[in-house]
Amino acid sequence: MDGSQRPQSSNSILLPIVFTSTYPSEAPSLYSLDISLTQAATTLENNPLRKIRYTTMNHLDDILKKDLHRLKKQSLYRQRKITDGPQQVHLQSNGRKVLSFCSNDYLGLANHPEIAKALKQGIDTYGVGSGSAHLVSGHSRAHHELEEALAEYTGRNRAVLFSTGYMANLGIVNALMGKGDTVFQDKLNHASLIDAALLSSSLSGSQLKRYSHNDLNFLAKQLTKSTSSSRKLIMSDAVFSMDGDLAPVNQLSELCSQHEAWLMLDDAHGFGVLGETGAGIAEKYSLAQEQLPIYMATLGKAMGVFGAFVAGSDALIETLIQKSRAYIYTTAMPPALAQATLMSLKISQSETWRREKLKQLIKQFRIGAEQLGLSLMDSQTAIQPILVGDNETALKMSQMLEEQGVLVTAIRPPTVPKNTARLRVTLCAEHEEKDVERLLSALEKVHRLAMV
Ligand SMILES: Cc1ncc(COP(=O)(O)O)c(C=O)c1O
Repeated sequence: MDGSQRPQSSNSILLPIVFTSTYPSEAPSLYSLDISLTQAATTLENNPLRKIRYTTMNHLDDILKKDLHRLKKQSLYRQRKITDGPQQVHLQSNGRKVLSFCSNDYLGLANHPEIAKALKQGIDTYGVGSGSAHLVSGHSRAHHELEEALAEYTGRNRAVLFSTGYMANLGIVNALMGKGDTVFQDKLNHASLIDAALLSSSLSGSQLKRYSHNDLNFLAKQLTKSTSSSRKLIMSDAVFSMDGDLAPVNQLSELCSQHEAWLMLDDAHGFGVLGETGAGIAEKYSLAQEQLPIYMATLGKAMGVFGAFVAGSDALIETLIQKSRAYIYTTAMPPALAQATLMSLKISQSETWRREKLKQLIKQFRIGAEQLGLSLMDSQTAIQPILVGDNETALKMSQMLEEQGVLVTAIRPPTVPKNTARLRVTLCAEHEEKDVERLLSALEKVHRLAMV
C-alpha cells in the first residue's frame, strides 16, 4: 500500500509498524497501515498476535539503535577521533600524542608553511566564502588560475575544479552517460565511482557492469558483448585506494581503442606522488590525452588542501561545465583554497625530494614487514595495507597499536570485501626512518599478541 498516493481522511492515520521477527538475525520490516483512529487505538491495546510489536515513527531511535548495535556486534562500528592542531605525522588525537600512519597527506603538505601563508593571503584577497556556484558568481580568478595550472601540470588542454572528488565522479558520469550507455568498473573501485554509475543508472538509465579486479580478459568479454551500447565508459582507480596497487593503465587504454570506449582514471592517490614531477599516473605511463581522455584527481590528499578536478579536452571540460549536476548545483570551493592549492602545485613540482623520500620509506617498510611475516599486498605506493581477514582482529590490532601511540586505521567492509579487513598503513614524506622503525616494532608486538 502506498499511503502517499491516498489523501488521509481527518479521522484516520497512517500508522507505521515495525514487525520484529522472533529470529534475532532477521532485520525488522517497516510497514504502514492506513486505519481509523479508533481502530488504531484498539489494535494497539488488544494486540492479538503477541509476537508482533508495534511502534510508531516516534520510535525512530529504537530502530536505529538496533542497527547500530548490530554494527557493534559485527565489529563494523566506526568511531571518529578528535584531532587538535594541524594534520601531520605527529598528531594530537583524542587528547594524546600519536605517530600517525593513516592520512592521505602523502607529500606532507597539509601543514606546509608556504601553503598556509598562501591560504591566509587568499583570504585577504578574496574573503572566506565563494558565495555561490561557479556558474553564478562564485568562479574567482584564483579558481580560474588553478584550473589553468592544473591543465598545464597534467599536460591536458583544460581542467575544471569540483568541490570534492566524490562530486567530480558523480559529475563525470552524469554529464557523459545516458540511456543505452554502459559504464564498466573495476570491482575494487572507490565508492564514489560506483555510486556515480548507480546514480546515473537510476537517473538516466545507463547501465553499470563491474569486472573482477584488474581482470582484463573479463573486461574484454564484457566489452565484446556490449555491442548495443552506444557510449562505453571504462572507469578505474589509478591507484586502488584500499590496496595500493595500480590499474593496468596501458592495457586499459588499448582495450578502449579496440572497443571504441572512453577511459577515465581516478588518480586520487597518484596525483602528486606518481611520475617524475608528480603529475600522476598519466605522467608515469606517458599517457597522452588521446589515450587517457578523462583524467580526474583530488586535491585533498597529496596536495594537502581540498577539492578535485577533471582534466581533458576542451569539449570534455565544457560538457562537464554545462551538464554536471554536481558542478552546477553546488557552491564553489572558497577561492582562498584555490590560491593555497596553486602554491601546493608549485611545491609538489619543485620539492622532488618528497617523492624520493617516500620511495625510501616504502622500501624500508616493506622489507621490515616481510621480515615480520606480515601479509603485505602487492603495492609499491604509499598505501601499504596489511591483510588481517576478520573485522574483530583488525579492529583489535588497530586499538593495540594506538595504545602504543601509533595510529593505523582498521579498514573493514563495506569499504573492502568481506573477510579482507586490513590495517591500512600509509606513509608520508614527513616520516623519518626512525618513525617506520617504531611502527614496525609496534606491529611486531601487536602481531604476536593478535595471533595468540
Ligand atoms: C579513489 C578515490 N576517489 C575519490 C575520492 C573522493 O575524494 P574526496 O575526498 O575529495 O571527495 C577518494 C577519497 O576519498 C578516493 O580514494
